[in-house]
Amino acid sequence: MSKLNIVILAAGLGKRMHSALPKVLHPLAGRPLLAHVLDTAHALSPQGICVVYGHGGAAVPEAIKDKTLTWVQQVPQLGTGHALMQALPHLDEEGVTLVLYGDVPLTSGETLQRLISTASESAFALLTVDMADPAGYGRIVRNEKGEIAAIVEEKDASEAQRQIQEVNTGIMVIPSRHLHGWLHKLENNNVQKEYYLTDIVAMAVKDGIKVEAARPDHPWETTGVNSKTHLAELERTYQNEYAKKLLEQGVTLADPFRIDIRGQLSCGKDVIIDINCIFEGHVQLDEGVKVGAHTVLKDVKVAARSVIAPFSLIESSEIGKDCRIGPYARIRPGTRLDDDVHIGNFVEVKNSAIASGSKANHLSYIGDAVIGRSVNIGAGTITCNYDGANKHQTIIEDNVFVGSDTQLVAPVTVTQGSTIGAGSTITRDTPPETLTLSRTRQMSVGGWKRPVKKPKGADEA
Ligand code: UD1
Ligand code: CA
Repeated sequence: MSKLNIVILAAGLGKRMHSALPKVLHPLAGRPLLAHVLDTAHALSPQGICVVYGHGGAAVPEAIKDKTLTWVQQVPQLGTGHALMQALPHLDEEGVTLVLYGDVPLTSGETLQRLISTASESAFALLTVDMADPAGYGRIVRNEKGEIAAIVEEKDASEAQRQIQEVNTGIMVIPSRHLHGWLHKLENNNVQKEYYLTDIVAMAVKDGIKVEAARPDHPWETTGVNSKTHLAELERTYQNEYAKKLLEQGVTLADPFRIDIRGQLSCGKDVIIDINCIFEGHVQLDEGVKVGAHTVLKDVKVAARSVIAPFSLIESSEIGKDCRIGPYARIRPGTRLDDDVHIGNFVEVKNSAIASGSKANHLSYIGDAVIGRSVNIGAGTITCNYDGANKHQTIIEDNVFVGSDTQLVAPVTVTQGSTIGAGSTITRDTPPETLTLSRTRQMSVGGWKRPVKKPKGADEA
């Protein structure tokens, strides 16, 4: 295969986004538009990738943080031909140059491979699509033999040319050795007073270079984002395609139109996902895992058969096998649950390890704790891990029973087999296999009368 260089045009203003954020940094599936294009570009293993940026200035390279890229700034922006000209010093003369747009995020590698194999050092390849409503796009003009002769921008097109439904997607592969000459011949004597990259097509034809078209597998692969409406539409396309892939792998989705994956979701056999769940970062669900409605999982591994009940939020944690989580559980970063652990409603766990068979079923805060096996944490138990300046650890050993409404003031260790009476405040380590409680003794006052309500008007004398 000949040398491949890639140039991504990303300098456009994106006025219709009505946003201070540069257009190519707007997120699709949780990542900047440009990051999606870069993933696709890297997968083609090119000699180099050059990104032409402009609006937003340094914000774009700063957000992307990819040291393998060559960044060139285009100020002012005088059109797509002018944009590619800025990249010229960084391109090989050999092989071919693929032009991508930073605001066209969903082009597949397969489609681009096909386009690249259509091109060569002596053949120019355009990615084109037929559109029922081609308004706004450059039209592909063909000669009487059906060969591509030129691209005409809508604003410069004749009435007859405007009827053409085959349009330029903007994605093209150009024989690199001609680029320098063609770009330097560009002029801006057109309606928009821009240097059109598309004008090099007619130059190629004149120089006897064949221009061929290739088609994408799906129409949305070449859809660009110019507004929040386009962005929302493409987001749904992305999510629907991801959901289809999951269904094909055998995942049960209560509704493939109500799932959002902002990263990578990998699932074992017989995983069931209810509606309105969000998966961020890398999420792994092993065989038989069930995820309840309205659950958010970010960078989480869930082992086989665990059930996450509705409205739970879990981040940067590992859940063992056969666990029962939620409803309304919040599991924060740094948590590791072994097998068969139960975390119930309104329980918050942070940076803690809980060994197998332990349960915290209701209304608790467990932070910076190490909890052994078969521990029962009663309702309303709180690890007081923060003294206002530093965080401290709570250790609860195997077979401990913590009565409801207990405060464990860290650093503290509840040793193996201890029982803590309900309502206790534990400030010192407890001895093993004993009952510890700290609460005032209950007393009863005889003959005590409840206050009674004064009759109306009694105060007004
Ligand atoms: C361009 C094509 C048109 C095609 C359409 C597909 C030209 C002259 N026209 O039109 O044939 O049908 O795309 O969407 O090429 N950009 C820069 N610098 C600039 C101008 C643009 O980097 O000075 C970048 C933009 O960020 C964008 C891409 O190039 O990613 C296309 O720019 P846009 O203004 O959307 O192109 P159109 O004029 O709509
Ligand atoms: Ca456009």
